[in-house]
Amino acid sequence: MTGLPSHPRFVSLEGGEGAGKTTVLAALRDALLGCGDEVVCTREPGGTPLAERIRTLLLEPGHEPPAAETELLLMFAARAQHVRETIRPALARGAWVLSDRFTDSSYAYQGGGRGLDPAFIAVLERDAVGLQPGLTLLLDIDVQGGRARTRGRDPYPDRIERERDEFFERVRAAYRARAAAEPARFRLLDAAQPVAAVAGEAVRHLRQWRDRAEEARA
Ligand SMILES: Nc1ncnc2c1ncn2[C@@H]1O[C@H](COP(=O)(O)OP(=O)(O)OP(=O)(O)O)[C@@H](O)[C@H]1O
Ligand SMILES: [Mg+2]
Repeated sequence: MTGLPSHPRFVSLEGGEGAGKTTVLAALRDALLGCGDEVVCTREPGGTPLAERIRTLLLEPGHEPPAAETELLLMFAARAQHVRETIRPALARGAWVLSDRFTDSSYAYQGGGRGLDPAFIAVLERDAVGLQPGLTLLLDIDVQGGRARTRGRDPYPDRIERERDEFFERVRAAYRARAAAEPARFRLLDAAQPVAAVAGEAVRHLRQWRDRAEEARA
């Protein structure tokens, strides 16, 4: 949803499986620490002890599979806690918050992937979360390329990673549509490039963003 309050020091990393979010997040953290800023790195689903317990419920395979609506509401239950307990307090004391996934993941996975109504997601976003990142880096890679990376990494894929390629094609399309609809917030990166190139581009975007935010404060 556009029009929600956003915070310039709140940055999210988005993209499909194996796009490189966690790898790039570490490079962004190092760049900000190098500027002497405080940085809080967090992730979704998760980011508080309770939200991490909800993450386990959501991602562990092999028990009663949640309905799509249950999955969405659990994601937002975790996010409501995350924004109140971790994100807002960190922003309030002047830290940067780098989040490995945020609400765009729900539009992409539960909206695009599972086919839930984005208008329903927007209501949850407005009333249960009420905050958007100022800057969102979307790491875009073809589904096969991303999955080839995680196959090498995860011997036991989680419940969502076990979905079929068609599911992840819908996730990717939903992400790209969101980036096109909100060009002021999103930066679209070609995540099929080597790590150093993707991380370098991400850090460049973040530095530009930081410089602009500093100028606006001056
Ligand atoms: N640009 C890249 N080129 C090649 N390999 C990469 C690149 N970026 C990350 N990798 C490797 O691919 C794997 C997946 O990367 P990473 O864990 O950062 O992705 P992710 O987007 O966080 O995935 P997930 O959605 O599963 O959390 C890791 O083994 C990582 O070292
Ligand atoms: Mg990751």
